[in-house]
Amino acid sequence: MALERTFAMIKPDACQEGHIGEIISILEKNGFKIIHLQMLKLTEKSVRLFYAEHVEKPFFPSLLEFTLSGKVVAMVLEKENAIEDLRKLMGATDPKKAAKGTIRHTYGTEMPANAIHGSDSRESAKREITIFFGEFASIPSTEKRNGKEY
Ligand code: RTP
Ligand code: MG
Repeated sequence: MALERTFAMIKPDACQEGHIGEIISILEKNGFKIIHLQMLKLTEKSVRLFYAEHVEKPFFPSLLEFTLSGKVVAMVLEKENAIEDLRKLMGATDPKKAAKGTIRHTYGTEMPANAIHGSDSRESAKREITIFFGEFASIPSTEKRNGKEY
């Protein structure tokens, strides 16, 4: 399995309810290393860019309102198989359907308030890391470790 980086975001519901520390602790206990971290309030423009694939969907207005409702914590996480493993640890999109023990089951309430975002592919991870941490943020494909690109 390859060492990967993924993008995660603790959403406004979990930030407002005081679960930032607990969620970060779960991530670290599950082997994710924090590479970059920033707490910020998104703008409508940044939500439209970040969720570009959903802008035309019927649920987008409620997703936009929710994502703008408070601060978020944006992170780059590193681990072997980080992208898939984070999605598993997050659980299903709908917190009511998420398996017990997953972050969304524990901290999510009702769609769209599902506590955490995680990139769904290597392409998304690269795109999202670049949006939040800039084109100079280190992304696996641009970095070498032990002389090898990963
Ligand atoms: P995310 O991108 O936030 O990690 O969530 P995801 O991949 O599990 O789900 P995605 O399909 O990308 O949807 C993005 C966010 O939009 C809200 N949503 N609402 N009402 C609905 O049918 C609906 N579908 C999606 C959720 O907040 C979801 O996380
Ligand atoms: Mg998604």
